[in-house]
Amino acid sequence: MNGERVPKETTTDRLKGKRILITGGAGFIGSNFADMVIKKVNRAVVYDNLSSGNEENIAYLKKNPKFAFVEGDLLDSTLLGKTLEEEKPELIVHLAANPDVRIGINNTKIDIEQGVLATYNLLDAMRKHEVKDMLFASSSTVYGEATVKPTPEDYGPLKPISLYGAAKLACEGMITAYSHMFDINYHIFRFANVIGNHALHGAIIDFANKLKHNPSKLEVLGDGTQKKAYVLVEDCIEAMLYAYNKSGQNEIFNISVDDQITVKEIAEKVTSRVSPKASINYTGGKRGWKGDVADAFLSNEKLKALGWMPKKNSAEAVDIAIGLVLGS
Ligand SMILES: NC(=O)c1ccc[n+]([C@@H]2O[C@H](COP(=O)([O-])OP(=O)(O)OC[C@H]3O[C@@H](n4cnc5c(N)ncnc54)[C@H](O)[C@@H]3O)[C@@H](O)[C@H]2O)c1
Repeated sequence: MNGERVPKETTTDRLKGKRILITGGAGFIGSNFADMVIKKVNRAVVYDNLSSGNEENIAYLKKNPKFAFVEGDLLDSTLLGKTLEEEKPELIVHLAANPDVRIGINNTKIDIEQGVLATYNLLDAMRKHEVKDMLFASSSTVYGEATVKPTPEDYGPLKPISLYGAAKLACEGMITAYSHMFDINYHIFRFANVIGNHALHGAIIDFANKLKHNPSKLEVLGDGTQKKAYVLVEDCIEAMLYAYNKSGQNEIFNISVDDQITVKEIAEKVTSRVSPKASINYTGGKRGWKGDVADAFLSNEKLKALGWMPKKNSAEAVDIAIGLVLGS
C-alpha cells in the first residue's frame, strides 16, 4: 500500500469535452437533451429532417458556438456521411424516428422507413466513419403485452403489438449485431411515456386541444382504464446520462418511474384545469387504438441499482406537463 486513497466510486463524466451528434434533436426529447448537455460537451450537432420536430425547439441553442444544426434526413446517406466526415462525432444519440404509434395504423411503411431503415443507414455510416458509441431511444412497446409487471429488461419473448414497437425491436437487434460485428458500443434505453417541455403529442396535448375546441365535452379513446407510467423528460435524460456514465458498454435499460396513472385520471386532471364543467365521454374498449398497450409498466430496478432515482412520479410529471401545455 502506498497510502493513496482510492475513491470508492469514480464519477467520470463521459460526455465532458465530447463531440456528439443528436439525431432527431429538433424534437421533444432531443432538444431537451441538447439543452441539458451543451455546457459540458465540446460540440453538439443536431441532425433532423423536421418531419415532426421544429427549429423553434432549438432556436436558443443556435446562439451557442458549440451547437450546429443540420437539416437532413437519415435516409439521405450522402448528407449523413458528409456530416459524420465533417463533424467527427464521438457519440451518436439516436432519437430520430416516427414518434407516434398510431400513425402505423394507416401508414404501414413509416416505422420500417423512419425506424428500421433510418437506423440501418446510421449504423452503417457509423461503421464507415468509425463512430464507436451510440445511445438509442427504444420503447416500452418492444415488450408488447408483457405478463410480468413491472417488466424487467430480461423479460421475453418480446412480442410487440404495434408496427412502431416491432420497428424498435428490429432496431435493437441491428444495433446489437453491428456492435458485435463492427465494434460499436451501445446503450439501449426503453422509455416509458416521456412528457414535459417541448412535447409535441400525447394524451395531455390531445385532451387540452379537444377541450379548447369544445369546452363542454371531452371524448377519450378507450374506457379510461388504460394505465401507464409517465416520466418527466429531465428525469429521462438524467437516467440516460447516469447509465452512460455508470454502467459498462452494451447494456439495455428501462427508463421509468415507480407508479402508473390511468387515462381517466389524466382526462380529469386536464378537464378540471381547462373546462371543469365539461363531460368526459369514453369511446369504450380496453385500449385507445389498435396497437396501444393498455397496461404498460416497466421495472426500473436495473437503473436504480446503479444509484439513479426519478425525481418525479407519474402524477407529479403529469401535473407539471399539464402546466406546461396550458402555460400556467
Ligand atoms: N416521447 C415518448 O414518450 C417516447 C417514448 C418511447 C420512445 N420514444 C422515442 O424517443 C425518440 C424521441 O421521441 P420524441 O418524443 O422526442 O419525438 P419527436 O417527434 O419530438 O422527435 C423525433 C425527431 O426525429 C426527427 N426525425 C424523424 N425522422 C427522421 C429522419 N428520417 N431523419 C432525421 N430526423 C428525423 C423529427 O423531425 C423529430 O424532430 C423517438 O425515437 C421515439 O420513438 C419516445
